[in-house]
Amino acid sequence: MTHAILIGHDGMVGTAFTKLFENEGVKVTAVGMDTLDLADPDSLARFTAAGADVVVCCAAYTNVDGAEENETLATQINGEAVGVIGKRCAEAGATLIHFSTDYVFDGSGFGDAEPEPYPVDAPIAPVNAYGRSKAVGEAALRESGADHLLVRTSWVYAPWGQNFVRTMAKLTAERDELKVVDDQRGRPTSAEHLARTSWALYQKGARGTFHVTDGGECTWHGLAEAVRDAQGAECAIAKCTTDEFPRPAKRPPYSVLDLSGAEAIVGSMTDWRRNVADVMARLEPV
Ligand SMILES: NC(=O)c1ccc[n+]([C@@H]2O[C@H](COP(=O)([O-])OP(=O)(O)OC[C@H]3O[C@@H](n4cnc5c(N)ncnc54)[C@H](OP(=O)(O)O)[C@@H]3O)[C@@H](O)[C@H]2O)c1
Repeated sequence: MTHAILIGHDGMVGTAFTKLFENEGVKVTAVGMDTLDLADPDSLARFTAAGADVVVCCAAYTNVDGAEENETLATQINGEAVGVIGKRCAEAGATLIHFSTDYVFDGSGFGDAEPEPYPVDAPIAPVNAYGRSKAVGEAALRESGADHLLVRTSWVYAPWGQNFVRTMAKLTAERDELKVVDDQRGRPTSAEHLARTSWALYQKGARGTFHVTDGGECTWHGLAEAVRDAQGAECAIAKCTTDEFPRPAKRPPYSVLDLSGAEAIVGSMTDWRRNVADVMARLEPV
């Protein structure tokens, strides 16, 4: 039986892995903040991957705006700690599955003319502190010597946890009108689809860096409309610009990830509209 250590088991993606591993009959050692604090070097020093076939790291500092004022902490958790976990995996002969973000790219898209989806090996150039901290983690993982699967993803949602789909479900049910940003384009990602697809990649022996998201692309406005329609709400959703909603962290305007590497191994990614409809049917109350 495969033995997985699951770090960050109670986060949005961690919960998806917990459910997936239950169904797949994977033996799991769930690791939470109480036993491993990625910001604490002493706690990290006690971490061992001994006995595990695979370590899945879903823990991260994920507050994108908070990272602007706490970049040192974000870099400790998203950057340096990943290198330590990687080294422990290398020592134990375990594979490390780790997650990174579209925010490592600058958001102008790949290519010189019309923006095109970012290939896995496109140059990274993060525009905010969270993106920089995740970029440090990517480099630390590669340098750690661990056998690894590094999965970049974007705009993650699930029936649980704090995410845009649940927020929009609540707001479009409560309000008559709403404004949502229409000048940021990306690929939404169901956490369950992400867990399933990453696990399938691991099982098929894929190693190195891959992009995994839902299929298709949209703006936040398009995603909000899909959520509203899925629950039959009447809320009017107006389009607005990023400048109308200033946030501490700069957002990349175009962060569509190229999926061809992963699709060549596991087949086409399910379209985001289908995954959103599936999640909406099982949404946990906000
Ligand atoms: N959400 C997105 O849209 C998105 C997009 C691109 C990439 N990603 C990446 O996907 C991965 C999973 O993200 P997610 O959305 O599932 O995140 P999440 O729901 O915010 O969960 C993060 C997890 O990390 C744990 N954690 C936070 N600080 C920690 C620390 N110092 N030590 C140990 N554990 C700590 C949290 O524990 P507590 O619950 O106890 O705080 C929680 O279990 C991350 O690598 C993230 O960067 C996410």
